[in-house]
Amino acid sequence: MNVYLVGMMGSGKSSTGQALASLLDLRFVDVDREIQKSESAAVAEIFEKKGEPYFREAESRELERVSRESGQVVATGGGVVLKESNIRVMRRTGKIVYLKTSVDWLVSRLAHDTERPLLKGEDLEVRLGKLARQRASYYDKAGDFVFVTDGKTPEAVAVEISASGLLNEKNKS
Ligand code: S3P
Repeated sequence: MNVYLVGMMGSGKSSTGQALASLLDLRFVDVDREIQKSESAAVAEIFEKKGEPYFREAESRELERVSRESGQVVATGGGVVLKESNIRVMRRTGKIVYLKTSVDWLVSRLAHDTERPLLKGEDLEVRLGKLARQRASYYDKAGDFVFVTDGKTPEAVAVEISASGLLNEKNKS
């Protein structure tokens, strides 16, 4: 059994995931980091040199590889829910936790970000607003459990998740 964290960029998947893994005494894995290791390149560089479709293939491959192990808290990239097959892999091998964050909070957390290729160019609030609207239904559909992270520290969210008893719940069908 794994716990998969999904949600927008800046929702706190990696930091909450690390805190949750230590609370639950599970291993922490970050899919973006696994991609960077296997491609020997930063996410922004992969997008730039090989394009987004290539990145999405690598993302699905790494997710599938990670899912073969159990006992992990897995932070995913914000776009992982866009492919139905990724959701199937996560649902088959664990629980999917959606970290839901308002655009205002995402903007404040990502104001100084330089590493996310999908945030380049346009005004940050406009860009995040568009992405959040496009993806809302994907996150809603994917998440077995939803936690709102606005104004909360990663540690506080991790405590909420671990106290919720989700590890004892049955998956939704
Ligand atoms: C992406 C989110 C990023 C990373 C890539 C694409 C997305 O991960 O996978 O830049 O499509 O939302 P984080 O959600 O960890 O920032």
